[in-house]
Amino acid sequence: MIKFNSKLPNVGQTIFTTITAKANALGALNLGQGFPDFDGDSFLKDRICHYIEEGFNQYAPMTGVPELRNSIASYFNKKYKHVINADTEITITSGATEALTASILAFVSKGDEVIVFDPCYDSYVPAIELAGGSAKRLNLVGDGFSLPFSKIKETISDKTRMIIINSPHNPTGTRLKKSDWIELSKMVDDKNIILLSDEVYEGICFDEEYHFNPRSLSSLEERLISVYSFGKSCHMTGWKVGYLIAKPSLTLEVRKLHQYITFSTFTAAQMALADFLSEKMETFLSLGDFYKEKRDFLVNGLKESRFKVINPSSTYFCLLDYSNISKLSDVDFCLKLIEEHGIATIPISGFYENAPEDQKIVRVCFAKDQETLARALDILNAI
Ligand SMILES: Cc1ncc(COP(=O)(O)O)c(C=O)c1O
Repeated sequence: MIKFNSKLPNVGQTIFTTITAKANALGALNLGQGFPDFDGDSFLKDRICHYIEEGFNQYAPMTGVPELRNSIASYFNKKYKHVINADTEITITSGATEALTASILAFVSKGDEVIVFDPCYDSYVPAIELAGGSAKRLNLVGDGFSLPFSKIKETISDKTRMIIINSPHNPTGTRLKKSDWIELSKMVDDKNIILLSDEVYEGICFDEEYHFNPRSLSSLEERLISVYSFGKSCHMTGWKVGYLIAKPSLTLEVRKLHQYITFSTFTAAQMALADFLSEKMETFLSLGDFYKEKRDFLVNGLKESRFKVINPSSTYFCLLDYSNISKLSDVDFCLKLIEEHGIATIPISGFYENAPEDQKIVRVCFAKDQETLARALDILNAI
């Protein structure tokens, strides 16, 4: 038997894997998995085939193909009026996950602390631990899952190297307002703290204007690493193309890691995405409208149900409070939904270190076709 010390002794099978396995075994309707059950635009599929045929099959430049970096810079200029240098401030990565992990490994060292907020996306903490740091996990508070500002203030110390923010937020569908970012900016103002801003759902916002992009605050720009994903914005999660934006000095450091983690990202996919973003930017700018229809269909369709629907203002996730229906824990409730009702959802305690005990909430993903959503409504309304 080979002996070794696990670098991640606490990582095992997650509740997400258990739910997916059970849902598949019992043929349940799957609103648990957090990705679309439909394809991206056929334009993208045509272009990726075109570039493969044309021989774009060798390594892309380490930083990403210039066509894609330039298209991203134009998108940020059009949408947010930001001026971003495509050569020194944008790096294409293999999904947002690589951008997040490379950023954490680049700046977090042994003994450093990183503040994250639960419920929290599951890739952050393992990366912090691999870097030798420790995660200080603070729960978001209240019905609106707001940042716990007084706790943040208490937790920040000389050891704090990074704060990871996810807005728009998976799994709650909430997003931070400009005033939240200003408050946060005051807290880190004189400190040596990097803000790693996971904005993979930036295009999926409803009801008001766009997502508030923290790069709009000059007080934050210097310490911000912003992370995005074409998987989310193009309904092509399997392509695993993401990117990060940061000022040149931070970018240079993250690129050192990216260079030796993956070096570069699938060339033909980058070329296809560059064409899509430059030729069909409207599709990106109207992504919120596309998902708003699905959100409204789900939320309106559940008005008469016994679930309390926590209406999301962003992302393609919606939380359902089942406290009127059952006293079971969220894990047991999800298992029961699969076994007895044939529908898979996700228990949000899986996103916490210490979930509030009285919290009875599951997450559903509405990035699903109309027929799936209609079937989901039939099932959920009958519970
Ligand atoms: C909050 C959040 N960050 C990052 C990612 C990972 O994105 P990618 O698939 O581009 O690596 C996801 C995917 O679900 C996510 O929900």
